[in-house]
Amino acid sequence: MGVRVAILAAGQGTRMKSNIPKVMHRVAGRTMVGWVIEAVRDIGADHITVVTAPAADDLRSYLPEGVSSCIQAEQLGTGHAVQVALDHFGSVEGDDVLVLPGDTPLLRAETLRELIDAHVEGDSAATMLTTRLTDPSGYGRVLRDRDGSVTGIVEHRDAAPEQLAVDEVNAAIYVFDGPRLTDALGRLDRDNAQDEYYLPDVVALFGAEGLPINAVRADEEEVSGVNSQGQLAEISRAMRHRINEEWMGRGVWMADPDQVFIEATVQLNAGARLYPGVHLEGTTEIGEGAQIGPDSYIVDGKVGSDAHVWYAVVRQAEIGTGAEVGPYVSLRPGTVLGARSKAGTFVEMKNAVIGEKSKVPHLAYMGDVEVGVGANIGAGTITVNYDGFDKHRTVIGDGARIGSDTMLVAPVTIGEKAYTGAGSTISRDVADGALAVERSQQKEIPGYAAKREARNRRKLEES
Ligand code: UD1
Ligand code: CA
Repeated sequence: MGVRVAILAAGQGTRMKSNIPKVMHRVAGRTMVGWVIEAVRDIGADHITVVTAPAADDLRSYLPEGVSSCIQAEQLGTGHAVQVALDHFGSVEGDDVLVLPGDTPLLRAETLRELIDAHVEGDSAATMLTTRLTDPSGYGRVLRDRDGSVTGIVEHRDAAPEQLAVDEVNAAIYVFDGPRLTDALGRLDRDNAQDEYYLPDVVALFGAEGLPINAVRADEEEVSGVNSQGQLAEISRAMRHRINEEWMGRGVWMADPDQVFIEATVQLNAGARLYPGVHLEGTTEIGEGAQIGPDSYIVDGKVGSDAHVWYAVVRQAEIGTGAEVGPYVSLRPGTVLGARSKAGTFVEMKNAVIGEKSKVPHLAYMGDVEVGVGANIGAGTITVNYDGFDKHRTVIGDGARIGSDTMLVAPVTIGEKAYTGAGSTISRDVADGALAVERSQQKEIPGYAAKREARNRRKLEES
């Protein structure tokens, strides 16, 4: 027997006040529906479809291979949405159907497995996740008979006062026997406060027929959905803690996990040390013993073991073993810092390949440049790489020493162990081992200060 999955995501999500489909909002770098798909895939479901609104092209094209979509032309309610999914599947003979919303990113695969196991063991027609809430308002209440068996679900807006007092709510995550679900959906009506086909009414129909209905109690946080930006932030915080706990369990040190933001796609190694204000995103990888932060933002970056990165913004750049970056550094795409190299205070690099042990300690712009091994780039050095039309490359040889405030007008090559004099504008290649200086002779006017003072005094007396 297989499990087919319908993820419901055709609702408007108007309370988000956003122009993207609700389930496309990101939690720790992954869309909400992406998290749900991940959990569902983990339990080895056979067919997954996402029920979408007609306008949600972005959502449909985002779905990974192996996950289909179907379109609910009109939002006539959750029962109707599931009907759309069943029509899409064709037949669910011999299958169970797992139904869940696309906006519960914290839902774990283990919980879904528990739900399905309970369903199979109980040989049930329907098994649902429920949770108890201190404030159940807005939710469908779970109705039970005197023996405690579930008999149905009543929506908040349709509930009688004594039903409103029930604090056990429907989490909207259920598994149904396929053929029985098909039959019951065909019998739903819209005779309710919202004029919708309610999926939960299927449970009451089963109850009336005396079919076995099972309920599994779930953790409130795990099944909570997102309806507003405030809830998105809350869920994101919970996810962040989950991710941070996981990494700390694997030997990553954090000064304060409340202030560390790691996306789901990031990889870290044991012994990495993270200080407050660290944001690690995309395909970032952090090596063993690397120290990041305080205050660093790294997206799609690779940081070698024992490197030290602080107060830095790093985008699509690679930092070698034991390299030092920061404080106040911007490493832009295409930058590769060699082992034990340095990008120091107020340095910006773009498409810069810096050799092992080469140092750019202060106040420099290194763009479209290749620096050899063991070179030193003086404070204030700038690669003048852009002539207004094209970008040009600078090449600096092994062991070269670039004097402070050198302008390297590209294309230009500085030879191995060559020197440039401080303040030089270098626009021609410099041979290996040579010194290039480009600046005018220093003039000196003796006694200048006294002469100037005398001149000013005269002016005062004349006026
Ligand atoms: C639903 C349940 C309620 C439960 C609550 C838990 C119903 C009638 N009620 O209420 O018992 O306590 O979830 O959060 O099901 N959707 C569609 N197409 C539609 C309508 C909805 O795809 O025509 C999707 C929405 O995108 C959403 C999910 O179904 O993901 C739930 O729909 P919503 O209308 O928000 O139901 P609730 O009022 O939250
Ligand atoms: Ca509703």
